[in-house]
Amino acid sequence: MQARRGLAAALNGSGRFKYKSPESVVDFLVVGGGVVGLAVAQRLSERFPNKSTFLVERHSRAGEETSSRNSEVIHAGLYYPPDSLKTRLCLRGRQMIYDRCQKYNIPHRKTGKLVVAEDHQRSYIESLHAKALKLSWPPHSPSHNPTHNVLPTELISGDKVHEMEPNLSKNIVAALWSPETGIVDSHGLMESLEKDIMESEGGALVYSTKVVRVDPFIPSSSSNLEGGNQGWVVQTVTGDPSAASEGESDVMLARTLINASGLASPLILNSLLPPESRISMFYGRGSYASYKGPGISGISHLIYPCPDTASDRKSKGNSVNFQSLGTHLTLDLQGKLRFGPDLEWIFPREGKEEDELEMDFWQGHLVPSEERLREMYEAVKSYLPGVEFDGFQPDYCGVRPKLVGPGGGFQDFVIRVDYPEDFVDGKGSKDGRRSGKGMGGQMISLLGIESPGLTSSLGIAECVVEDVLDKTSADETS
Ligand SMILES: Cc1cc2nc3c(=O)[nH]c(=O)nc-3n(C[C@H](O)[C@H](O)[C@H](O)COP(=O)(O)OP(=O)(O)OC[C@H]3O[C@@H](n4cnc5c(N)ncnc54)[C@H](O)[C@@H]3O)c2cc1C
Ligand SMILES: *[C@@H]1O[C@H](CO)[C@@H](O)[C@H](O)[C@H]1NC(C)=O
Ligand SMILES: *[C@@H]1O[C@H](CO)[C@@H](O)[C@H](O)[C@H]1NC(C)=O
Ligand SMILES: *[C@@H]1O[C@H](CO)[C@@H](O)[C@H](O)[C@H]1NC(C)=O
Repeated sequence: MQARRGLAAALNGSGRFKYKSPESVVDFLVVGGGVVGLAVAQRLSERFPNKSTFLVERHSRAGEETSSRNSEVIHAGLYYPPDSLKTRLCLRGRQMIYDRCQKYNIPHRKTGKLVVAEDHQRSYIESLHAKALKLSWPPHSPSHNPTHNVLPTELISGDKVHEMEPNLSKNIVAALWSPETGIVDSHGLMESLEKDIMESEGGALVYSTKVVRVDPFIPSSSSNLEGGNQGWVVQTVTGDPSAASEGESDVMLARTLINASGLASPLILNSLLPPESRISMFYGRGSYASYKGPGISGISHLIYPCPDTASDRKSKGNSVNFQSLGTHLTLDLQGKLRFGPDLEWIFPREGKEEDELEMDFWQGHLVPSEERLREMYEAVKSYLPGVEFDGFQPDYCGVRPKLVGPGGGFQDFVIRVDYPEDFVDGKGSKDGRRSGKGMGGQMISLLGIESPGLTSSLGIAECVVEDVLDKTSADETS
């Protein structure tokens, strides 16, 4: 595949929305009502009952984008480098999700998962096992028995794995068993978060409302609306975005802005950054296939193949495939089985200006195509040889918000902080340096929140509110 540039579009790239002065003030404004934005808003409204927390979502309901187009797997935390945010927040988020599911009766099931290995893949599962043994408990974990492993795993024999799943290929000679992996009703999780926000003192959900423009705000001595604090002037438009008329516009001063807008998340920052510093986004489509047919008798665990380490080693030394976990088998809470997601890079059309028309180009790629089925079938057949091609049907697709493109290595979640003063000269900070600390006005951007973002959502919220948020300024304005 030829190398292609990522999309570096900016919000309001066409300049359609002119600057307007703020008419109201909000303490915390969260952009994006996916699972991550909801988790952050829930935590803020609980932690700061006397402050206002608004969550703005462009669709008429929560979770219409990536948060409803994924595998709904509660990942154990096996795959990422030990010192990464992905590992830390997945381990912590997993505990928090199971706790929340129990407390609020959210449908979920600890199915456990098998990573199945052929003979040449033994070393891969052994290295996952060795890594899991060494992981330490993440920050904020409640007190725990120190002899308990944060990520229990077990290497099991071919006989044992065939006893558990009799239809697995005879070529599968060993497996890594992960008992902590499970599945969750992601809509149930999001509804429980919505309910908490709505019932909180200071929280509010604002749907069908899109952020269209963001400007840094530094108070001048002549104005008194702002109470002397830095922040962000956020312009929104409410109404059906496809309607001919422009909808109702609103302008707020947000003391703290949290950007959890998923696939769109670089757009706000990019509108403030000069073109050469803009953040590129890459889009990795994942398609799922449903399956009806032979070769899947009694399957009750999630089954993941090893990433294709053999071919990968040839090209890239010892690295494993970080871009996708391979076409695996997932179950939903109704017991329905599906295969996926695969990985296919999608790009905006060639020769188009990078403007707002192209920002959401990925929405044209959400219909799964028949073309992917043959490749998926071949991938699945290697571990479940009894499946038949005719049983595969396109199911749905999701799009991974990626910060590195094809062939890129591991990329962690990014939690970036910017301050209004970094942008007043029109130049923008290079890397979100913390020059404005203490002055208020943080913009916290959550970037590249791909898998395990659902599992990590509550852990991300905890990290944002407890570790990243500048609470000295948050508290002093109360
Ligand atoms: C194929 C696939 C499989 C996956 N499988 C798993 C899995 O099994 N387990 C797991 O833990 N994770 C999984 N993930 C990852 C997980 O789905 C995501 O990390 C998570 O859903 C991200 O949530 P989010 O809230 O950041 O983003 P989103 O759900 O995309 O939410 C962002 C929201 O922001 C809104 N928005 C954007 N721009 C604006 C604007 N200007 N104004 C107002 N609103 C705006 C959007 O409408 C959207 O609702 C998977 C992802 C994919 C693609
Ligand atoms: C928050 O509000 C409650 C009730 O109105 C009040 O008792 C409490 O002192 C307030 N806390 C702060 C930090 O302002
Ligand atoms: C969210 O953050 C990204 C990356 O930091 C930025 O490009 C985008 O403009 C931000 N969106 C908002 C609404 O602040
Ligand atoms: C699948 O397993 C069932 C029994 O559990 C067996 O009857 C059937 O032959 C197996 N099919 C394949 C293709 O292995």
